[in-house]
Amino acid sequence: MISFLWAEDENRLIGKDNQLPWRLPADLKYFKETTMGHPIVMGRKTYESIGKPLPGRTNIVLTRNPSFKVDGCEVLHSKADFLSWAKKTDEEIFVIGGAEIYRLFIDEVDQLYVTKIFEQFEGDEYFPKINWENWQLVSKKPGIKDEKNPYDYEFRKYVRK
Ligand SMILES: NC(=O)c1ccc[n+]([C@@H]2O[C@H](COP(=O)([O-])OP(=O)(O)OC[C@H]3O[C@@H](n4cnc5c(N)ncnc54)[C@H](OP(=O)(O)O)[C@@H]3O)[C@@H](O)[C@H]2O)c1
Repeated sequence: MISFLWAEDENRLIGKDNQLPWRLPADLKYFKETTMGHPIVMGRKTYESIGKPLPGRTNIVLTRNPSFKVDGCEVLHSKADFLSWAKKTDEEIFVIGGAEIYRLFIDEVDQLYVTKIFEQFEGDEYFPKINWENWQLVSKKPGIKDEKNPYDYEFRKYVRK
């Protein structure tokens, strides 16, 4: 099963200068708790933005560069490579971005975990448009707004109808 996990603002913005446009540690905590123990899949640019493999998870990086190698990550080179890898496991696989990789698997994804941040930020990468009629909301939890997390935000999970 393939799941997407991401955070977006009111305009579907997800990135700025290869970083996140906001600081929201409660969302990073949610990310860690939700993905821990599961394989995570990311584009090479998102990998470089994180800068290291994330512990406790099989890290898969997608790149077209045949000589890209990093200790602690599996490297795959095409959509087809990833889909055949995914078929071999019963685990829930989390696609964690970025924009190009979400676009690549938008037709294959089964579940969506989105953190909606009710703000408008500046940036340069957007989550693709989704036809929400095909998706059923199965859970919704407000985020806690405090000094370190100074926005209104909400954790939502959808499954494909
Ligand atoms: N808000 C969020 O939840 C969230 C989550 C993740 C990322 N982000 C943000 O998103 C931005 C990065 O997104 P992005 O779209 O620029 O980059 P990306 O999706 O992380 O990575 C793009 C790279 O993936 C590789 N790739 C793409 N299609 C491929 C294919 N079919 N086969 C093999 N490799 C393929 C290519 O690597 P090569 O060039 O090496 O070939 C491509 O340059 C950053 O700002 C990051 O902070 C936000």
